[in-house]
Amino acid sequence: MTVDRERSVVFGEAVSQYESARQGYPAQLVTEVLGYAPVGPLLEVGAGTGKATAAFAARGADLTCVEPDPRMAAALTANCPDVRVELGRFEDYVPDRAFALLYSAQAWHWVDRARRWDLAHAALAPSGAVAIFWNRYVVTDPELRAALAAVDDRHGLDSTSLHQNTPLRTEDSGHELARDPRFTDLGHRHYTHTDWYAADRYVDLLRSMSGYRILDPGTREALLREVSALLGDGVDMTLVTDLALARRAR
Ligand SMILES: C[S@@+](CC[C@H](N)C(=O)[O-])C[C@H]1O[C@@H](n2cnc3c(N)ncnc32)[C@H](O)[C@@H]1O
Repeated sequence: MTVDRERSVVFGEAVSQYESARQGYPAQLVTEVLGYAPVGPLLEVGAGTGKATAAFAARGADLTCVEPDPRMAAALTANCPDVRVELGRFEDYVPDRAFALLYSAQAWHWVDRARRWDLAHAALAPSGAVAIFWNRYVVTDPELRAALAAVDDRHGLDSTSLHQNTPLRTEDSGHELARDPRFTDLGHRHYTHTDWYAADRYVDLLRSMSGYRILDPGTREALLREVSALLGDGVDMTLVTDLALARRAR
């Protein structure tokens, strides 16, 4: 499967919605990833506006971030002035050191599937670690979730709907890693918390997502009006962060 280039570059159109509506990542995840990795420089792939970067930088990490979208990279530099930012796709990045940890938050699926593990392997020091993680935003009430999924469906959103059950990306990557003898010591972890989203913030969350962004504007606005009507004041969310870990074997 190739990566959809059009969808992978839409995030910079929605930096402010991204900043206000997207979640960061659990402190416990950062602690466990840093505990799993050897000591040394860190590489982040697809850093966006820095939602994961800030948490790792706060631990004093020597951090290099690869980010192709100049608008996201500008927000990243403003949010995390002490990290090194390499503007470009990971596929085109040439590492200038051997990294102890490569991590990627909500972005590994944008990297060319045919090459991403070769690139990760090449960027890592021996025994260097990989940590890839994604947030899942689940409307807690199953009836409301089903009603929202029906709205998405009516407007032509498929597997990119936030409201339909889709396979876990960590499991997909885990299967690839399990078949790759260059990686070992595989692990999976999940972190769950709940939050309440005001209706406007929830709509901004959808606006920050590529599947909704690539709809034509008329369709998107009609969909979002229907979503708002279903939400009332806001919505209880269950937020799950799925983490896949691996280590370079050789
Ligand atoms: C959903 S955002 C995640 C941003 C951030 N890591 C976070 O957790 O909020 C995906 C990011 O991946 C970047 N991206 C897309 N294709 C990429 C590629 N080939 N290499 C590196 N980053 C890429 C996008 O520009 C975007 O900033």
